Amino acid sequence: MDMRVKETDHTALTDPGRYFIDEPQAFNVHRDLFRDQALFELEMAHVFEAGWVFLCHESQLPNPHDFYTTQLGRTPVVVLRGEDGALRGFVNACPHRGTRLYTARHGTAQVQMCPYHAWCFDSAGHCVKIKDQSQAGYAPGFDGERHDLTPLAHLTSYQGFVFGALRADVPALADYLGDTRFFIDTFAEQSAQGMEILPGEVTYVYRGNWKLQVENTMDIYHLTTVHSTFAKIVQQRGEREASAAGADKVKAVNLGALSGLQAGTYTFPHGHTVFWGSDPLRENRALWAMRDDLLTRGVDAHKVEWMFRPRVLNFFPNIQFVDSACMQLRVIRPLAVDRTEMTMFCLAPRGEPREGRRRRLRQYEDFFNASGIATPDDVACYEDIHAGGLAHANSEWIQGFSRGMQHVVDGPDSHAREIGIRPLESCSGVEVQDETVFRGFYREWRRRLEAATHD
Ligand SMILES: [Fe+2]
Repeated sequence: MDMRVKETDHTALTDPGRYFIDEPQAFNVHRDLFRDQALFELEMAHVFEAGWVFLCHESQLPNPHDFYTTQLGRTPVVVLRGEDGALRGFVNACPHRGTRLYTARHGTAQVQMCPYHAWCFDSAGHCVKIKDQSQAGYAPGFDGERHDLTPLAHLTSYQGFVFGALRADVPALADYLGDTRFFIDTFAEQSAQGMEILPGEVTYVYRGNWKLQVENTMDIYHLTTVHSTFAKIVQQRGEREASAAGADKVKAVNLGALSGLQAGTYTFPHGHTVFWGSDPLRENRALWAMRDDLLTRGVDAHKVEWMFRPRVLNFFPNIQFVDSACMQLRVIRPLAVDRTEMTMFCLAPRGEPREGRRRRLRQYEDFFNASGIATPDDVACYEDIHAGGLAHANSEWIQGFSRGMQHVVDGPDSHAREIGIRPLESCSGVEVQDETVFRGFYREWRRRLEAATHD
């Protein structure tokens, strides 16, 4: 399948580089990346629909005939688990009229019937029935046409996380993920039974561009302003707990990673980025009770150490793994240049002790989601950024990529060498609150659009 927009569709494709100032001492992004509808269509074609995109986790469709629906750019997608247990990915549209076939988020269907004309498909994507076919008077060639669902070009899992691609000419998933697999492992190897996405999800829409969310999760500089209310609540709660002997001491996300403690970022090939910090209150984590088991069953000691560090893994273009007390998955779905849908999931190690699971859920509710104490404050900022970014009297260039420039080194730093990973760039220090890591995303964005001009 080739869904590329041709070069003549928009003049921007003749020079994607004009949206960036990328020099040794300066990096700026043009505001049009956040407000230009034509650019939005181009990035759907060349960023989302031309590469790997996260689709789901295997735990979301555990049994034969289970299905899970999602989006790959502008294309609705369904992942099916066949009778044989294998996962397959398809465009979620009936080949007859193009009607969306699976309308629920997830479920089980040995046979799925199109709601419009009742064509039926099995869980391997085969068309198994065309309603009232025998006397319809179809032309002789009709039987020879393909009536099955259109398969994705690729569907591959790593550690249970399922990725798909519409185009055949993408790198192997292992090459695409590269050394970021170390960090996925620090999520997935917390239990010998693997990771699961807990039932339920939270979805909300904000009025702003999707790349604001991409930046935010790596943006440590905003925490002490935007989340100061949260920090106060945590402090007051701690004081109350200290005075109430025997009270349940469920601690929330720790903002201590910001002040006086070591933190850093990594930029990897293909636009993936990582933030890591330090956590002086690691015993508050649900995983803390399982730490001896981790080492006993032979999990790499470096990975165990990193399981207790706050870390964010941003996969280009739209999936964010967050572990800043509890684990969370954020999926970014651009709806329009000024509309973005966020869906959040709580991740957990399978077989976790009951007390740990309870603690994890309370921490998850605390900080994240539309009902949490932190996420709504972030969303309010996105909407203010969008409002400010539409002011044409303002500078056309966004500045905000300069913190940490003097700390960036090419290749791995000492922390990366210790764990054997090879990022393109590393930045670490105390209270740097690095912004240079955002460049990794934008350089890949630019590379994708420049590649499209040469197709
Ligand atoms: Fe935030």
